[in-house]
Amino acid sequence: MQISVITLFPELVKSVIAEGVVGRAAKRGLVELNCVNPRDYTEDIHRTVDDRPYGGGPGMVMRPDCLLKSIRAERKRLGETKVVYLTPQGRPIKQDMLKSLSEVDSVVLLCGRYEGIDERVIDLEVDEEWSLGDFVLSGGELAAMVVVDGVTRLLPEALGHDDSALEDSFSDGLLDHPHYTRPEKIEDLEVPEVLLSGNHQHIKKWRRKQALGRTYLRRPDVLQEKDLSKQDMVLLDDFMKEIKTSEVKS
Ligand SMILES: C[S@@+](CC[C@H](N)C(=O)[O-])C[C@H]1O[C@@H](n2cnc3c(N)ncnc32)[C@H](O)[C@@H]1O
Repeated sequence: MQISVITLFPELVKSVIAEGVVGRAAKRGLVELNCVNPRDYTEDIHRTVDDRPYGGGPGMVMRPDCLLKSIRAERKRLGETKVVYLTPQGRPIKQDMLKSLSEVDSVVLLCGRYEGIDERVIDLEVDEEWSLGDFVLSGGELAAMVVVDGVTRLLPEALGHDDSALEDSFSDGLLDHPHYTRPEKIEDLEVPEVLLSGNHQHIKKWRRKQALGRTYLRRPDVLQEKDLSKQDMVLLDDFMKEIKTSEVKS
C-alpha cells in the first residue's frame, strides 16, 4: 500500500515507520510512506505556506495554492486514490474505517497547521475528513501517524501469527479479553487458574466471556451494535453473576 502524507513536518511523520510492526512492514515493502512538503510547491523566495485570514482574526491559515499543487502531484503519481484531511471537524476515526482503508492501494493524508487550511482545498480536493477525537491538536501529523500505524498493522502479513489483529479490540465488535504473562503471581495477584489449565476449549470460553463482560461494562454503546448469539448471552449472564458474587464477598 502507498501512503502519502502532505505535511510541513515530514521528518516527524517518517518516524512512524522507523520502529516496531510498522517499521518491519515498511522494510518488507508492504507499505510505502511518501511525505510531501507543501513548501516544495511554493514559488516565492520565502517559501511561504501560510497567510493572514480574510476577515481578520487571530492566527494564520495554510494557503490553498501550494496545498492544491501538492495534492494534485500525488493524485497524478498514485492514480486513483482518496484524499483524507485530518481535522477535529471530521468523522471520528474507528477501526472499521482503518480496515476499509487497509483494503485500498493508496491514500493521501493531508495535515493542517495553524488555524487550519483554506476551505477551498477541502471543496476542491478532499474526499473525506477524519478526526482523532473531540480535542484540538496543533497539527494533523499525529493524527496521520495514527492512521499510518493503524492501517499498516491491518495489511495482510504485517502481523505475525503471534500478534494477529483478529482478536484485537473492535475487530469483531468487542473489546479484547485481558492478557497475562509470567510470573504466575505478582504481589498478591495470581493469573486466573483457567489460563494455566491447558484446556484450550475452557480458555477460549473464558476469554470470550471476559471480552463480552468488559465490553458490556466499559463500552455498552459498542455492545449495543452487536448481535449476540445465544451462547454469548449465556456467557455474559455468567460474567454478570460472577461479578455480583465477588461484590457480595468483598
Ligand atoms: C490548531 S488545528 C486547527 C483547528 C481549527 N481551527 C478548528 O478549530 O477546527 C491545526 C490542524 O491540526 C489538525 N488537527 C487538530 N486537531 C485534530 C484532531 N482532533 N484530529 C485530526 N486533526 C487535528 C488539523 O489538521 C488542523 O488543521
